[in-house]
Amino acid sequence: MKYKVPNHVAIIMDGNGRWAQKRNLKRTKGHQKGAEALKKISEYVYDKKVKVLSVFAFSTENWKRDKEEVDYLMDLFIKSFKDNFDAVKKKGVKVIFSGVKEKLSNKVIKAMEDMTEETKDNKNGIFNICLNYGGQDEILNATKKISKDVSNGVINTDDINPELFNKYLFNDLPPIDLLIRTSGEYRISNFMLWQMAYAEFYFPKVHFPDFNEEEFDKALLYIFICQY
Ligand code: IPE
Ligand code: IPE
Ligand code: MG
Repeated sequence: MKYKVPNHVAIIMDGNGRWAQKRNLKRTKGHQKGAEALKKISEYVYDKKVKVLSVFAFSTENWKRDKEEVDYLMDLFIKSFKDNFDAVKKKGVKVIFSGVKEKLSNKVIKAMEDMTEETKDNKNGIFNICLNYGGQDEILNATKKISKDVSNGVINTDDINPELFNKYLFNDLPPIDLLIRTSGEYRISNFMLWQMAYAEFYFPKVHFPDFNEEEFDKALLYIFICQY
């Protein structure tokens, strides 16, 4: 039977804390396990012919967490980018980031820039990491840039349409076909609001550290069922 593989899959990687708490471990241990799960999944999705993978790594609201947890996450990002490097290069996937630099340390920004620079010519897929990201922020940011371009005569108000608007977002990405949020929460938490206009939603119960290849296959099966 013919079935269309989702072109753009987005994942809200939720439940690291609960995964750890259930095992009497520190929340940070859950984040470490979550990073390991992401490494495996980010290799697997491209084998399944998905072209774009977007992941929610850190929201603009996540700064409200304990300093210890935030610091741990920032160090983990730097380490994970390095760990993922070989895999990303081997697969020929281009890494991009969505979000704002404000509040991020120079070390994190440098790690992000290195990753982007080294993979910029890769053509086999796109790995979009949403870090210090908020969906409403992205839309407002685009609106401000459009407004400036209208004032400066670069574009006319009548030129504003969905295609043009998309170009003003953090990245000009195709629409999301499948959105996955792990851990049983039925919430969007300000993730890629513009891009998920027509996405299918899938909410597996597993916490993100347990989200593996088999779980991803179940998500694809769900999409397959949605198409019939
Ligand atoms: C998601 O897991 C990871 C980040 C937000 C960085 P959580 O840390 O939100 O885990 P829960 O929701 O507390 O279980
Ligand atoms: C969303 O999860 C952000 C990330 C996965 C990075 P949260 O756990 O922070 O979301 P809320 O606070 O439960 O809505
Ligand atoms: Mg959470």
